[in-house]
Amino acid sequence: MMGRAVLLVGGRLLAALAGLGLLGGAALPLRLARADPVAGISSPAGTLQVQVLLSGDGKPGYSVARHGRPVIAESRLGFLLTDAPKLDRNFTLESVGTRSVDQTWEQPWGERRFVRDRYNELRVRLKEKRPPARALEVVFRVFEDGVGFRYEFPGQPQLSDVNIADELTEFAVAEPATAWWIPAGEWNRYEYLYNRTPLAEVGQAHTPVTLKLAGGVHVALHEAALVDYSAMWLRRVEGQRLKTTLSPAAEGARVKRKAPFTTPWRTLQIADDAGGLVTSDLILNLNEPNALGDVAWFVPHKYVGVWWSLHLDTESWASGPKHGATTTNVKRYIDFAAANGFRGVLVEGWNRGWDGDWFADGSEFSFTEPYPDFDLEGLADYARERGVRLVGHHETSANIAHYEPQLEPALDLYARLGVDTVKTGYVADAGGVQALGPDGKVRYEWHDGQVMSRHHLKVVQEAARRHIAVNAHEPIKDTGLRRTYPNWVAREGARGMEYNAWGVPPNPPEHEANLVFTRMLAGPMDFTPGVLSLTGRGGQPIQSTIAKQLALYVVIYSPIQMAADLPENYAKYPEPFQFIRDVPVDWDDTRVLNGEVGDYVTIARKDRRSDDWYVGAVTDEDARSVRVPLDFLEPGRTYTARLYRDADGADWRTNPQAIIIETRQARRGERWELPLAPGGGLAIRFEASSRGLAGANR
Ligand code: NOJ
Ligand code: CA
Repeated sequence: MMGRAVLLVGGRLLAALAGLGLLGGAALPLRLARADPVAGISSPAGTLQVQVLLSGDGKPGYSVARHGRPVIAESRLGFLLTDAPKLDRNFTLESVGTRSVDQTWEQPWGERRFVRDRYNELRVRLKEKRPPARALEVVFRVFEDGVGFRYEFPGQPQLSDVNIADELTEFAVAEPATAWWIPAGEWNRYEYLYNRTPLAEVGQAHTPVTLKLAGGVHVALHEAALVDYSAMWLRRVEGQRLKTTLSPAAEGARVKRKAPFTTPWRTLQIADDAGGLVTSDLILNLNEPNALGDVAWFVPHKYVGVWWSLHLDTESWASGPKHGATTTNVKRYIDFAAANGFRGVLVEGWNRGWDGDWFADGSEFSFTEPYPDFDLEGLADYARERGVRLVGHHETSANIAHYEPQLEPALDLYARLGVDTVKTGYVADAGGVQALGPDGKVRYEWHDGQVMSRHHLKVVQEAARRHIAVNAHEPIKDTGLRRTYPNWVAREGARGMEYNAWGVPPNPPEHEANLVFTRMLAGPMDFTPGVLSLTGRGGQPIQSTIAKQLALYVVIYSPIQMAADLPENYAKYPEPFQFIRDVPVDWDDTRVLNGEVGDYVTIARKDRRSDDWYVGAVTDEDARSVRVPLDFLEPGRTYTARLYRDADGADWRTNPQAIIIETRQARRGERWELPLAPGGGLAIRFEASSRGLAGANR
């Protein structure tokens, strides 16, 4: 039973809402004067309140408040269609339904093992007052940590083919805010440095967009379960008002669907502080449960590979004297992986097609034929005999017209060889995806349009059939689909380590402190950390200390993590390298100890397979000291803590290699304070002592 949903007619609602305590004492958004609330609901513990509004001319809208204080002021809902009148006015409220859910589900792998999914749901059915009298449903799920809502297009003869020109959903942020965002609709997809601007200076942004409101509340706008639909971009239309615009299609409607269907969830994560956004499970909760059944065949792992050398340009993808993917070279990587406990060895440039201008076209790629100096079958065996797996690579140059016909034989080949993770790649400018149109001719699509949302799921589903995991680069953004398809384990979708090889500029020291509170809210990232040599192509310095490279394994979550540097470089840093060998990639629990968007963050995570805890902290260009309260440790237990921290005088510009590695005893309740250098970081392993009497039951 749920007592907090209300449906009221006309102007009596406000009084009733106030009576239920839904409005708190705070002032209502001014725009309420123009539209009447017709239904409302609050989160189970009452933190958040949502109202559904209808204006005099039947335009639907919504608003969100937190503890009675407006977060989202009156904001419009609706659609533009290509072949029918717009669907955004003349509505009446036909019915209201409510539901409460409180359940806990288990992640096969992740940042935490158990996830609580607790919300109140409000479903409103709207119907046009006049012909064509179309119906549209909007469903709100209100959690303590945010709100998700989506549209449901019911089956109806007057709107069976839904051709969406654009979506009209708005987010009118109720207070001045600072925004962290990257531009949408630009050529480099998601690979931009984050802007920090007043919200009132945002242009057109990808999500997640992260906001800090004047009153201190943090909000992240994003979406969940982007399936067979086009990605939501946010465009500022006036003041603090953001409006959805869908990623374009090559031609015609941006989304073409047959009713009935549901749109992705539009999400607002709302928290007191920046860390609250990171620990919110709202995006996952709004996705459908695991559709694959037992996925124990995916083993979270660390990997090395023929990769950094390619970005340094000391080896090449292309065949010839610099070819990296040779049998001899890859054996060296396999031996290195086996000796250091890494499960995977990625090999890029193994297959035919890299010799011409692969960047521009991708039509030469074969996904089954290795170059002659790469003994694919022999190396797959060589690896398996040593407890290692090759990690597959499909760079498509976003020519999916060329890739899709090869997809099944390519995955069959990997399955036969025991290659159970594949990195895919879609290098091409945004808008440059080559896909076949209905007439069999090539169309140029966007990386995050409906065509690509379908393509990625097709790859993930075909891979799942063969027990293969997928790590997509130049992907469509993550919207939590790993819950439904747990073999979609990671993706890129931001500037990763490669920018430190050749980026102009390379990633600045604040980059990772931005990522944690923006890109990472969407899901795991294959950032490829761990370049301890701290130099890119031609000796370009990486804007990081050595301790920060270690911290990234804790701070940037992914169930697959690369040790990206060259084996010969790791040989030079055996002591820091030990942390990379030790750090797990699958967690029982995650806590954000402190942090501010773009400045710093400290995260503690508990290993899924032992009682050990790990802490990572990173800072921007400023030195600071971070608090590490050890409240996460088990009471009464001692831990041996191995600290990897910036030494006195460490600085990414002048002394990046200065690290102190030391051992301390640690107990719950202690409050540590540790220094971070400019561009610096901190990594700690807390190894749990055995419990109780030595040897008892162990
Ligand atoms: C871009 C990817 O992000 C990178 O990791 C890869 O090496 C190249 N594309 C080539 O596929
Ligand atoms: Ca990339």
